[in-house]
Amino acid sequence: MTDIRALAPDWWIDAVTYQVYPRSFADSDGDGTGDLPGVTARLAYLAELGVDAVWLSPFYRSPLHDAGYDVSDYRDVDPRFGTLADVDVLLARAEELGLAVVIDLVPNHTSSEHPWFQAALAAGRGSPERARYLFRDGRGKDGELPPNNWRSGFGGPGWTRVTEPDGSPGQWYLHLFDVTQPDLDWTNPEVAAEFEAVLRFWLDRGVAGFRVDVAHGLVKTPGLPDLTHTREELADLPTNAAPMWDQDGVQEIYTAWRRVLDGYGPPTRILCAEAWVTPPERMARYVRPGQMHQSFGFDFLSSPWEPRALRRVVDASLESMSAVGAPVTWVLSNHDVVRHASRLGFPQPVGPAGGIRAHDPQPDPVLGLRRARAATTLMLALPGAAYLYQGEELGLPEHTTLPDEVRDDPVWLRSGHTEAGRDGARVPLPWVADAPGFGFSPTGRTWLPQPEAYRDHAADAQSGVLGSTLELYRSLLRLRREFRLGRGELVWASTPRSTVLDLRNGDVRVVVNLGSRPVDLGPDADVLVASGPLTRNGRLPRDTAAWLRAGTSPRRPA
Ligand code: GLC
Ligand code: MG
Repeated sequence: MTDIRALAPDWWIDAVTYQVYPRSFADSDGDGTGDLPGVTARLAYLAELGVDAVWLSPFYRSPLHDAGYDVSDYRDVDPRFGTLADVDVLLARAEELGLAVVIDLVPNHTSSEHPWFQAALAAGRGSPERARYLFRDGRGKDGELPPNNWRSGFGGPGWTRVTEPDGSPGQWYLHLFDVTQPDLDWTNPEVAAEFEAVLRFWLDRGVAGFRVDVAHGLVKTPGLPDLTHTREELADLPTNAAPMWDQDGVQEIYTAWRRVLDGYGPPTRILCAEAWVTPPERMARYVRPGQMHQSFGFDFLSSPWEPRALRRVVDASLESMSAVGAPVTWVLSNHDVVRHASRLGFPQPVGPAGGIRAHDPQPDPVLGLRRARAATTLMLALPGAAYLYQGEELGLPEHTTLPDEVRDDPVWLRSGHTEAGRDGARVPLPWVADAPGFGFSPTGRTWLPQPEAYRDHAADAQSGVLGSTLELYRSLLRLRREFRLGRGELVWASTPRSTVLDLRNGDVRVVVNLGSRPVDLGPDADVLVASGPLTRNGRLPRDTAAWLRAGTSPRRPA
């Protein structure tokens, strides 16, 4: 068992957490799939990068129909990723390096291969085994119609009909995601008890907390009524207008979990909500006192690269979170969205979801990377915690030309091949420019092909290279720590220019130029770090951000 007592008691408040997607981080055994020993071998790289914590996406036993977010055994490691002993080695190494390890918890659904679901299929209608999931009789004369009109988030119907043990057409079960991800019934105390036991299983092994998958989905409106709003209407309504999302009862579950976690600290063991919820006041409910610690600020991630929108979302995030005494948790990329180095590379703002295919309009990689570096420079200056997604420190773009045949995301399948899905953000990392598979695996194998452009982004090609994205991230993280920016307070400059974000956090002034003309930083500007080179006469070019020693800021508007 790992001892994590060396962590600061409240390490999480301003922590920068690096998301490892184990399948694509580093492969140790040459099978082309990343694994836990691969992660352990690279933990020193993460410590050197300067992050405080690591979040591991699921490595549990799983048929990988949704890349591991379909868990068939919550207490074991999938053989493709390693063993429980490998987890212990990883945790021990993280402890040596002073890194906290947060793992992924998937409580909304299990895999259809989970023993509970198999037992539910075998036990039949009305059984206690079925009562752990949301089985219902169908509508229509012979129950041939689904119990309601809910759709799967991956496309297609949200219900699938089963064949009863006697061979007759039977009940339906709810799956808000893939058909292999049956939703659990969280009104069943057995389900709650099981997940508390799972929490303890991993806390006892020494994890520092959990990122909670689909935290806004566990409670459904009783009676499972039809969804009465259209997609267009829902876009303008609070998330809880839909009977399957953000229902009030969900917080009771987290109150119970919080009690479990509090029994282990200090240092604090945390819960971080993945809750795609609007408006911000609703999101704040997840991090009220006695609830979770963090909730991803997806509004920031979804914001267009536009000064007014950014300022609005930064203010709204800080306001809604501070109203409940919680820090904001900033994030720009993860395994579910188009990498921000590509997302920001379009002249018109594009949403984070969906993926990009070879025949779609392609992002401008130079523009995208330039803006991505500026966006990260802004994000890491903001008070609160932040999450980074593996590879963003290398400036990795999305793989936007993956051959359709290799796509593995259920979104691709269930959308009837109309949405590319998320594979483009999940391509194996390039570690070594001049090695097969860019050093991802000792054999050069990679479970998804890497684009040729990844060569220039390889870690070894950037390490120690002034001006590289990797060195930018290292500088930002070092300075963020030195100036305690995560614990600071944001003050906007009094007379803002409409195309410039100008703010102060403690001893650091942050300027982001979103206009087309270079910005004068003043004669004795003391630039600590900038997301890109300044112009020859020391101005801040477009789509560039800089941190300056505050107080030296000149040109105070009269
Ligand atoms: C979350 C995960 C995503 C997964 C879904 C269903 O959104 O981040 O990858 O597909 O939940 O578990
Ligand atoms: Mg492997």
